[in-house]
Amino acid sequence: MRNCTRIYFDNAAATPLRPEVRAAMEPYWSDTFGNAGSPYAVSRAARMAIDRARTQVAALIGAHSDEIVFTSGGTESDNWALLGVALANLETRCHAIVSAIEHHAVLETATTLRELGFEVEEVGVDGNGVVQLETLDALLRPETCLVSIMTVNNETGVVQPLEAISQRTRERGIVLHSDAVQAAGKVLLDVEGSGIDIASLSAHKLGGPKGVGALWVRRGTRMRALLRGGGQERGRRAGTENVPGIVGFGAACELAELEMEANREQMCTLRERLEQGVREIEGARLNGESAPRAPHITNFSLPGNRGESMALNFDMRGFAIGTGSACASGALEPSHVLAAMGLSRAEARSSLRVSLSAQNTGAEVDEFLDVLRELVKK
Ligand SMILES: Cc1ncc(COP(=O)(O)O)c(C=O)c1O
Repeated sequence: MRNCTRIYFDNAAATPLRPEVRAAMEPYWSDTFGNAGSPYAVSRAARMAIDRARTQVAALIGAHSDEIVFTSGGTESDNWALLGVALANLETRCHAIVSAIEHHAVLETATTLRELGFEVEEVGVDGNGVVQLETLDALLRPETCLVSIMTVNNETGVVQPLEAISQRTRERGIVLHSDAVQAAGKVLLDVEGSGIDIASLSAHKLGGPKGVGALWVRRGTRMRALLRGGGQERGRRAGTENVPGIVGFGAACELAELEMEANREQMCTLRERLEQGVREIEGARLNGESAPRAPHITNFSLPGNRGESMALNFDMRGFAIGTGSACASGALEPSHVLAAMGLSRAEARSSLRVSLSAQNTGAEVDEFLDVLRELVKK
C-alpha cells in the first residue's frame, strides 16, 4: 500500500526517526557489531557506545547515568516498574495505587499484580484530567508499597501534580513510579531533584528508534529484576544489548535536550492556532484545557461526530490523526482517559487527538482546520 500521509499529526504515537539519529546508529549494524559483553576491540567499542548513550539519556532527565537501565521500550519499562517493586515487597506490603488514566502498559500490569494477590486501587481524575489528591490521600495505607502516576497523559497532554504526590509517597516510604514516556523531551524533567523513584522512557516518542527505552531507577530503590539470564545492565536487565537502538536513543535524547526550548515554543504556537480554530466550531470542547499541559498534544470532542470516521476522512486526505491512545486504536471502546474525566460515551467517541512536532507548520494546521470545518458541516 502506498504511504499517502502528507501531514503527520500523530507524534504521540510515534515520531519519525531523525536523520542524525539514523546516522549515529549506522555503524552499529555492521562495523561495530560486537556483543557489548565480550572482551575484544569490536565489543569494547559497542560497550563504549552504550555508556555514552546512558550519559545522554541521563542528561535529558537530570539523572545519574548508572541509574539508567535500557529496556525494549515504554511497555517493558512500565511492566518492570510495577512487577519489580511488587516482587521486592511481596512479604511485607501488598497494596498499590495507579491512576485511572494510565497507559494500558500500567493498567494491564496492575491486573497481573491483582492476580499475584496484591490489592491495587485506582485513583480518579477531575474534569480536567488531573489526579485528585484528596482521593489519593484516602487510598494511601500503611501497607501501600507502590504508587504509579504518569507524568504527562498520552491522550490529553495533561501534566500530573507529581511534586504534591511525591510529598505524600516520600513521607510514607512508598515507591513512586511515573510513566514519563510522553514527558521526556517535551517538558523539563529533573528526576534527581524530584520525589519520584522510578520513571519509564521510550525512544520512538522523541525521534529515536522503536523497540528501545529505559527505566530510570533511583539509587537505593528496592526492586527485583524481571528478565533473568546474563549479567547485562549490572544484573538488572538480562539480554544482549540492542546496541544500534540504544545508540539511537542516546542521540535522540541529546538532540531533544538541545532543542527542547525552541521546540516547545514552536509547538505551543501551533497548538494555540489549532485550538483557536477548534473553539470557533459550535459545540466543540477542548479536553483538559484548563490543566497544565505538555506542548505537543491537544484533545477535543465534537459532539454529534464520530472520532473514528473523522480520522478516516482525514486519512483519505493525507492526514495522520489519532482518536485516542495509539496503542488502543482499533478497539471500539471509547477512551478510558476521557471516561475518567467524566465525558459520556458519546462525547468520548466524538474526540480526536492531535499530537504535534516542531516540524509541523502553521499552514498544515490551517489545512487541518479547513478539513475539520468541512467534515463537521457535513
Ligand atoms: C504514556 C505511554 N506509556 C507507554 C507507552 C508504550 O511505549 P512503547 O511503545 O515504547 O512500548 C506509550 C506509547 O504509546 C505511551 O504513550
